Amino acid sequence: MQTYLVGGAVRDELLGLTVKDRDWVVVGATPKQMLALGFTQVGSDFPVFLHPKTREEYALARTERKQGHGYHGFSVYSAPDVTLEEDLLRRDLTINAMARSEDGELTDPFNGMRDLEARQLRHVSDAFKEDPLRILRTARFAARFQPLGFSVCSETMALMRDMVAAGEVGHLVPERVWQEIQRALHEQSPTTFFQVLRDCGALDVLIPELSPEPRFRAALSALRLAHAGKATTPERFAALFSTLDEPCGTKRAKALKAPNDCQNLARLAMAFKPIIQQLDPTQPDAKTLLELLEKADLWRRPERFSQLVLVLECALEATDQQRLKPLEKAADAASGIDPQALMKRGFAGKELGEAIRAERLARIKQALCRSSS
Ligand code: CTP
Repeated sequence: MQTYLVGGAVRDELLGLTVKDRDWVVVGATPKQMLALGFTQVGSDFPVFLHPKTREEYALARTERKQGHGYHGFSVYSAPDVTLEEDLLRRDLTINAMARSEDGELTDPFNGMRDLEARQLRHVSDAFKEDPLRILRTARFAARFQPLGFSVCSETMALMRDMVAAGEVGHLVPERVWQEIQRALHEQSPTTFFQVLRDCGALDVLIPELSPEPRFRAALSALRLAHAGKATTPERFAALFSTLDEPCGTKRAKALKAPNDCQNLARLAMAFKPIIQQLDPTQPDAKTLLELLEKADLWRRPERFSQLVLVLECALEATDQQRLKPLEKAADAASGIDPQALMKRGFAGKELGEAIRAERLARIKQALCRSSS
């Protein structure tokens, strides 16, 4: 039985980055032997086990073949005679298909080291085609390593285009797609993720509304600003979606099964952006804004109100920033309420809730009226 460190840990170590998760491959063992050593099996689809102490993942060397579409229908073959090279062959990118033995020796049958030095994201073999999720993973690695100079090599981009043309991306389940999008939103260069998806045609399948210019460029610019401001996931997602028309964008966010906080903030950003773009900053229409704020239920949620303002700051052109001022002031006013002070004045329970709401409303009105006077 031999154990090797594989995948992301080897890649990151060679790049001089901090290694977060360590995955191991075990060659020459059976599930029975692993269980006898105190490992516990993770799920039942793959021969993957958890170390009894470190809780790190140890997978038996395996080969995989794909029979169905999307992320379904893998047939897994695992036996003590599966070699390390065979296991590495089933992996997505050459930089993820290297292994290090316990005595430090590197196994690199697909020139991962060469690609690492040349800053190339390259598929290991044609088996890449069997898993369309790898298109999103590749875009995500491009987003992560873009600042280090990495890009998707032309052969892999061509293969991804073929996969998209064959309709593979449409078979992905929304949960998997969302998982990748959510991770990508927090990579070093989130915009690169969407750029790569657009270049290979996958964006036209996943979020077609985002693809056309100049909308795409505006969405990326909003996301870039949200990223620079260390925004949260809902704020980043809403910034990206802020350029879409409300009904279509809302439908798409739902189809992606984005979490409710992401969907809600995106919907607000899509609804408010065109209205703010029309505002006269010297004479904002306080009545319309108040109605809109009430309709969007932002009275009760000052944090969401502040989030919305942040998203709109990212989404609006520099020339329109002035128009956002009344809303910014209203959001500031709404968030500055101290429930303790109201409690000292004798409010409690339901009454306290109503007092907070009334005070917030009064402050918002005051802020908006001041802006328009
Ligand atoms: N892998 C793959 N195809 C997939 C998922 C995973 O080939 N669809 C392989 C890759 O070799 C990858 C390894 O499994 O390196 C571990 O997967 P994962 O933990 O998802 O990726 P990491 O490379 O470790 O990246 P991260 O730093 O994001 O954890």
